[in-house]
Amino acid sequence: MEQKPRIGLDYIAFTGIPGIDSQHSELIFMLDAFTDNLKKDDTDADFIYNSMDGILSFMKSHFVTEEKLIEMMGFTKITDHKAQHKECIELFLKELKTLNEKDFTKAKLIQFIRAFRDTAIVHFSISDGDYVNYMEKLLSGRGKRDSIVSNARAVAV
Ligand SMILES: [Fe+2]
Ligand SMILES: [Fe+2]
Repeated sequence: MEQKPRIGLDYIAFTGIPGIDSQHSELIFMLDAFTDNLKKDDTDADFIYNSMDGILSFMKSHFVTEEKLIEMMGFTKITDHKAQHKECIELFLKELKTLNEKDFTKAKLIQFIRAFRDTAIVHFSISDGDYVNYMEKLLSGRGKRDSIVSNARAVAV
């Protein structure tokens, strides 16, 4: 399936670390593709559950990668950053539980996914942007530059 850029991706901070940047874009594409599919009549409960589960797994693995990276950098706001990741996961898990509720509707799920997409964009832009700034400051200290870049690539790829 062809992936088209959508509004929002322009605002994501580019870390310059290929693995991280592609994970950010991929997660937004996954959310968009899911919304598109939810608008079709033939999406059944299994498809919805599997899609949500797939997005959740992808998001968790992105957060694990990123947390390794920011730990390695000695990012000063790591506790807060990890808490934000945890909050995103909890938000998604809470929505996953609503799939079995009587008053579940696709319209409500679409609304959630749209809002969640905004939350993700804000996190990638502002909070991830924060560690990008931190990393750039570290990179300007010449001695550390090479080891940070090579370690970061090893973690993120
Ligand atoms: Fe991220
Ligand atoms: Fe993050």
